[in-house]
Amino acid sequence: MLLQQLNSLSSPLSTQQVDSLKQLTANASAVELSWISGYLAGISQATLGAVAVQASSNASLTVLYASQTGNAKGVATQVAAAAKEQGIEVNLVSMSAYKTKLLKQETHLLVVVSTHGEGEPPDDAIALHGFLGSKRASKLESLEFAVLGLGDTSYEFYCQTAMDFDERLIALGAKPMLARQDCDVDYDDDVLAWQQQILTVLADTLTQDNTNAASNHGVSPMVASSQYNKKNPYGATLLASQKITSRQSSRDVRHVEISLEDSGISYQPGDALGVWFDNDLALVKELIELTHLSEEQSVSFNEQQISLSEALVKHYELTQLHPGFVAAYGAAIENNELIALSEDKSAVREFIKDRQVIDVVRQYPGAITSELLIGALRKLTPRLYSIASSQSEVEDEVHLTVALVEYDAFDEKHQGGASSYLSRRLEEGDTLRVYVEPNDNFRLPAPDKAVIMIGPGTGIAPFRAFLQQRENDGASGQNWLFFGNQHFTDDFLYQTELQDFKDNGVLNRIDLAFSRDQEHKIYVQDRIREQGQELLSWLDGGASLYICGDGNAMAKDVEQALIDVICQHGNKSTEQAQQYLTDLHSNKRFQKDVY
Ligand SMILES: Cc1cc2nc3c(=O)[nH]c(=O)nc-3n(C[C@H](O)[C@H](O)[C@H](O)COP(=O)(O)OP(=O)(O)OC[C@H]3O[C@@H](n4cnc5c(N)ncnc54)[C@H](O)[C@@H]3O)c2cc1C
Ligand SMILES: Cc1cc2nc3c(=O)[nH]c(=O)nc-3n(C[C@H](O)[C@H](O)[C@H](O)COP(=O)(O)O)c2cc1C
Repeated sequence: MLLQQLNSLSSPLSTQQVDSLKQLTANASAVELSWISGYLAGISQATLGAVAVQASSNASLTVLYASQTGNAKGVATQVAAAAKEQGIEVNLVSMSAYKTKLLKQETHLLVVVSTHGEGEPPDDAIALHGFLGSKRASKLESLEFAVLGLGDTSYEFYCQTAMDFDERLIALGAKPMLARQDCDVDYDDDVLAWQQQILTVLADTLTQDNTNAASNHGVSPMVASSQYNKKNPYGATLLASQKITSRQSSRDVRHVEISLEDSGISYQPGDALGVWFDNDLALVKELIELTHLSEEQSVSFNEQQISLSEALVKHYELTQLHPGFVAAYGAAIENNELIALSEDKSAVREFIKDRQVIDVVRQYPGAITSELLIGALRKLTPRLYSIASSQSEVEDEVHLTVALVEYDAFDEKHQGGASSYLSRRLEEGDTLRVYVEPNDNFRLPAPDKAVIMIGPGTGIAPFRAFLQQRENDGASGQNWLFFGNQHFTDDFLYQTELQDFKDNGVLNRIDLAFSRDQEHKIYVQDRIREQGQELLSWLDGGASLYICGDGNAMAKDVEQALIDVICQHGNKSTEQAQQYLTDLHSNKRFQKDVY
């Protein structure tokens, strides 16, 4: 409806409300209007969400999801929409908004959950995951359920959280409607098959069990989805991909600027941008040559015939290996060594760590058809990048901080698929497919609260967005940043901007750790220990704490340093210090964006 047509007869609003709305929006810019619409959608979703949670005691089917990077949320939304279309009353709810006492009243439950860390639940699942494993959880003998897990077969603890939910529900007496379905990163086909199976089961059960199933009573809202998402990305324009490390640096880190003009896309500091990418054509040509196949050979993709070359450039992973490739390729070329290797889970994980598809094909040549090669590969999935800008500052642009993945292995240079696309192959003015992945588990507190940001390397990205937002909000809360990298002169990302933030008082404290500028390596965790007393007094005074960046070593070392600081300066035992951090986390005052 156009604003001019808006009146109290054509809307649920009073004349006074209509006037206020017209006044508010009359002179707003496109970006402001887009922000207001997102804000109102958020409020409406929260209100309806509360209704949904209350209504769940009567709901025939509850779809509970927990997602860290949006996939499980997308899958749960899709399954719930399909159930609703089939006339099944459905209550779609995030685990973070779910009251555990409602479990006893549920009759049919679908759990869609991913796994993060090293076999750990996503943030939104922690409370429910803990509850189901505790003595407080009561028997759920009248519950029927099914679990769908999202994970990645390259990880040791594949779909561990889904496994935990499945086992715990069974232990509480609930009855599985289907065996658990674990899905790898290219999950679309498996999800669709599971969805069809479970909806068939539910259609039978719910029509037998619930005569009200087709009624409109208690129907809950679907999660609002923006026009652009993972499956329907926006064709954005690359404005700049500028190297922000020096020529001498061992790393190529880019500041990337992308235009979202006319898309109406809005995002918040803390969100990530999903980027679809094309593989390097030179790599594809080399692979085709090695396998003695032809570029023009046609292969089927999503029920269409396309050339092998296009399939390998646009639709399949070449730079990230997965255990399934070793098994399928080994079988296709009838290589017993690869087949035996693929049966040893830990050996195959080690084998794929630094190999790309081309390394395996080079090391184990053999005759293969294009269909078997394609069948052995995983479908390409987009990569996420923490957004490094605030729309209050950059309006219809979005900025990223991208480290090129580049390493030598097996006498060849290797590059990551997406990071090389963003930093080497795309030219300014080119189009790339993107979408926003919201992250409500990485949000700024109220403007008057202090924040402590720990973000070495590309971990700085969301904190650039935070600082831009705090400046534009005129936020009175104090801001403290810990940043680190290898060398001050080569790797001080956003040095001038951070200096400006410091000079104009937005950044109250900055502690730097350049690991290789002196004999002994110094990291952010060392600075945290040095500043322990002050840091703890900020936390005791209500500051929120954030960690972003490398999840393998840095995040663990930083967390250990935080525990040491809390023990030493807070006079606490290790367990008490851990509990201190857990409490901060539960109160959303300790948030992590690690990868
Ligand atoms: C929520 C989230 C936020 C993120 N934010 C950012 C960000 O702000 N900036 C950023 O740069 N990245 C970020 N990432 C990481 C990013 O999504 C990609 O994973 C990264 O850019 C690599 O993708 P790629 O396609 O270039 O590499 P891929 O093609 O995925 O290749 C990576 C693979 O190469 C191998 N490999 C990598 N390095 C080496 C090495 N040194 N030796 C041997 N093998 C190696 C490993 O097998 C690895 O799995 C984020 C990730 C997540 C989940
Ligand atoms: C930092 C990180 C850690 C992960 N750890 C695991 C793991 O231990 N086990 C697993 O099966 N998958 C793991 N994954 C893969 C995710 O589960 C997979 O990408 C999933 O699709 C994410 O779903 P979500 O977006 O709903 O969170 C990890 C992914 C990331 C980014």
